[in-house]
Amino acid sequence: MISAGIVTVSYIAATILFILALGGLSNQETARRGNWYGISGMTIALLATVFGVVTNNYIELMTALVVGGSIGLLLAKRVQMTEMPELVAILHSLVGLAAVMVGYANFMDPSVHFTGVELTIHDVETYLGILIGAVTFSGSVIAFGKLSGRIGGKPLTLPGRHLFNLGLLIATIWFGREFVIDSAAGAGITPLMIMTGIALVFGIHMVMAIGGADMPVVVSMLNSYSGWAASATGFMLNNDLLIVTGALVGSSGAILSYIMCRAMNRKFLSVIAGGFGTGGGATAASGGGEDQGEVVPISADETAELLVNSKEVMIIPGYGMAVAQAQHIVFEITSTLRAKGVNVRFGIHPVAGRMPGHMNVLLAEAKVPYDIVYEMDEINEDFPDVDVSVVIGANDIVNPSALDEPDSPIAGMPVLECWKGKTSIVLKRSMATGYAGVQNPLFFKENTRMLFGDAKETLEAVFKAL
Ligand code: TAP
Repeated sequence: MISAGIVTVSYIAATILFILALGGLSNQETARRGNWYGISGMTIALLATVFGVVTNNYIELMTALVVGGSIGLLLAKRVQMTEMPELVAILHSLVGLAAVMVGYANFMDPSVHFTGVELTIHDVETYLGILIGAVTFSGSVIAFGKLSGRIGGKPLTLPGRHLFNLGLLIATIWFGREFVIDSAAGAGITPLMIMTGIALVFGIHMVMAIGGADMPVVVSMLNSYSGWAASATGFMLNNDLLIVTGALVGSSGAILSYIMCRAMNRKFLSVIAGGFGTGGGATAASGGGEDQGEVVPISADETAELLVNSKEVMIIPGYGMAVAQAQHIVFEITSTLRAKGVNVRFGIHPVAGRMPGHMNVLLAEAKVPYDIVYEMDEINEDFPDVDVSVVIGANDIVNPSALDEPDSPIAGMPVLECWKGKTSIVLKRSMATGYAGVQNPLFFKENTRMLFGDAKETLEAVFKAL
């Protein structure tokens, strides 16, 4: 058993390392270092807790650590890059479940004694910890089901669903009051269990109402909830590190949800209210589907010729590049063009793809150098000097109606303004719309050429021609 002083110092060190980890993860070049900070912080936190806070039951604790750690290691080793969001979702569900279990264990622990105001505060912490934990648990399980295709992506829209949610909220507050009153009299398990049931139903209903394509925002929101659940557990257990770490996770998840919503120009509340986005790929009929003129197709050979004769090429990847797994051939083409003296850069929209950093992860996996990958804000002004923009499986993020049509569902969303360059070549399989379900006037512009087909196959043909 180590002294309380060492535990406090270790907790402070772990907190600093967690903050450094978050800072490191905000940038590709420092992400690896950020991960190491996180791993070191967690190791210190675990050691200090096991040897400084836990007083008995070492065998059970070690067994749980070995079993849990091994399962985690195995899952993380096996997971495909594309399955990352669902792994994150299921891991959040475990944080939620842990908060619920710790809450019940703490409530039923005969050695925990509080009276008066302290008891009320402790009861509120317990109630909130279990409430947020249960919502996180059931919501994350549904999110996992949706992301892995076990549950359909279509939003569930029950009649009167907002009233239903309001009813659940009022019931939760009512049972919270009952719980605090009963607990003072030495009881309280019944309202606690009823509230847990309500919270589980609420979590299921909330995530079922959200369309498949909005899941990334929901996953980061559940990430935030899992942090607040951990923080509430920290208050319950009087553990400072858990309070701080939970708050870090809670606030960073909330900020990420906010950034995503802003980049899509959608209100956070409208995402949570659900009913938008069914996974994309609808036909061109919906929203702005009126005749916009003719599109001009282009062949792979002509594309290759245009590319080698350019000085400035901008590659704009989107969700379709991820679907086609075209990142490796994109790297080959980039290397070939750069060897021929063409300046190739990548323009990344903050919500390109279906999760934050989706494109950056794919490009890094294909070994595209970081220094030619730019954020939208860094390169949007440069398009007038670009000879060819190659839009690979991207749609909404290059849609001019976001700027020109105030009635468009994506009005106000910042977009990559590739049409301001000399030529844009759009790679996609059909005239189907993207995630937002709106037609894209870019395809009909005079300086746009359409290269139809699966992005990987067409790019392989372009590479051959190069
Ligand atoms: P989308 O607008 O969804 O467009 C993707 C395009 O890729 C589609 O038009 C599709 O057209 C094409 N495509 C699909 N499979 C393909 C394949 N195998 N080969 C070639 N093309 C293929 O994607 P985006 O431009 O990346 O925009 C992202 C959208 O997702 C935004 O609306 C954003 O708000 C939303 N969203 C993003 C996030 C995050 S965090 N990234 C979170 C929630 C929502 P075809 O079917 O004709 O091929």
